[in-house]
Amino acid sequence: MKFQWEENLVLGITQIDKEHMELVQQANKLFDALGDPDKSSKEILETLNFLAGYVVNHFNSEEKLQLKYGYPMFNQHKRIHEDFKKEVATLIHDIEINGLKTSQKLSINKMVIHWLKNHIGVEDRKVAEYIKSKQ
Ligand SMILES: [Fe+2]
Repeated sequence: MKFQWEENLVLGITQIDKEHMELVQQANKLFDALGDPDKSSKEILETLNFLAGYVVNHFNSEEKLQLKYGYPMFNQHKRIHEDFKKEVATLIHDIEINGLKTSQKLSINKMVIHWLKNHIGVEDRKVAEYIKSKQ
């Protein structure tokens, strides 16, 4: 299951929009790997690690921007970022130790899609509206 980029996910902050599109591309590489029965746990883990690294960089740049504009919900947003990083790190650790079960693949795919939709479409939208009101 791929993530379809939609126009309504464009938030109007160029840097963030660019990074979100890149994030979705990286996520889709993970979904391709998850849906490919020929891919090993190790190969899937590589795409997941790459995505996790990208996520960390992207969160950092979002947080910098929020601080620059004094976003009042910064702490709450930062906590959401920290929780997601922890969730992904736990998942990576689990796969490293136990390998990846076929039954986990769909739930990983759904979890990431759900997170992207909700985070970009809801939480980051609030940030973007605030920043645009300050520009
Ligand atoms: Fe965010």
